[in-house]
Amino acid sequence: MPENKVNTLITDSPLEAAKILLRGGLVVFPTETVYGIGASAFDHKACRRIYEVKKRPADNPLILHVENLASLKVCAEVNPAGEIVFRKFSPGAVTGIFPKKDPNLFTAELQTVAVRIPSNPTAHSFLEFCNVPVAAPSANLSGKPSLTKMEYILEEFSGKVDCILKGEEPRIGIESTVIDFTSEPPILLRPGFVDVQDLREILPDLRVWTSNEKKSDTSEEAPISPGLKYRHYAPICKVILKENLEDVPKTAAQIGFRFNNDVAYQIRVSSNEEYMRSLYSFFVECDRREIKEAFCEIPKEGRGKEALLNRITKAASK
Ligand code: TXA
Ligand code: MG
Repeated sequence: MPENKVNTLITDSPLEAAKILLRGGLVVFPTETVYGIGASAFDHKACRRIYEVKKRPADNPLILHVENLASLKVCAEVNPAGEIVFRKFSPGAVTGIFPKKDPNLFTAELQTVAVRIPSNPTAHSFLEFCNVPVAAPSANLSGKPSLTKMEYILEEFSGKVDCILKGEEPRIGIESTVIDFTSEPPILLRPGFVDVQDLREILPDLRVWTSNEKKSDTSEEAPISPGLKYRHYAPICKVILKENLEDVPKTAAQIGFRFNNDVAYQIRVSSNEEYMRSLYSFFVECDRREIKEAFCEIPKEGRGKEALLNRITKAASK
């Protein structure tokens, strides 16, 4: 069935965007990590429309976005470990999974809920005006790289959502760190800008989930986080992780710290932070230019390495 084109309001007013969301609309908005595509978490019909627009598998739940810790505690049963992490890293790029407190929230049939408090000023102001939790996955087609630039958002979502909110562009560039606080000890499910070393300073027993683990021996299939079983973040081109960028073919693309030979498209970065900020737009640009192979240099030791390796190896695993 052809998708019906909708009228998309493009605005820089968080109030206008909030009004549209509260009338049942879908709003794409910036966060400090990547753009999100949001609906009121109380409006299950609107939430289901997010799945249609993104072509997202129905069993992959959404993250709820709220403006502060008080609102987070209305949605979720926050335990002491979660409280410590949110007090230290929020507002910011951490998502916690907790038992769901309000049964009316959309959580894709789960009894748990993923919540976060974005620090992006546009997102913050939008969430204040909404005054309801906003369910929002990353604004991209399912399986494709998350989007980090307004230019790409306008191209992908004009005519598909009711509103696109312009504001401060994402400065981190990869999705939030996801921690499951319903396990004892808590488990890091998705690495991000806030990394395991930061977290272990306050949660020394934090476990790190590895992709061949199951939540319990008795559960047949279910991976601990539904989203982790899907291929993610991948452009159409072939992604190759490489120790160095010495012999990249002229027709390919490259991203990394050191290279001497110019190729069809390239981004030079000077830190893992810059690498994170550039990675998804690198992938998008490779596809726009119909480049067949994208070479990614192994990130530097230290902050950001795990998160970058996680995204690059997922993109590389076709
Ligand atoms: O930075 C971010 O987190 C961005 C921005 C927009 O906030 N959002 C984002 O959402 O990356 P999404 O849907 O692309 O990724 C959310 C991940 C998925 O892997 C999903 O399976 C997992 O969180 N998740 C959500 N609710 C969950 C739950 N109750 N239990 C386990 N995993 C959950
Ligand atoms: Mg996503």
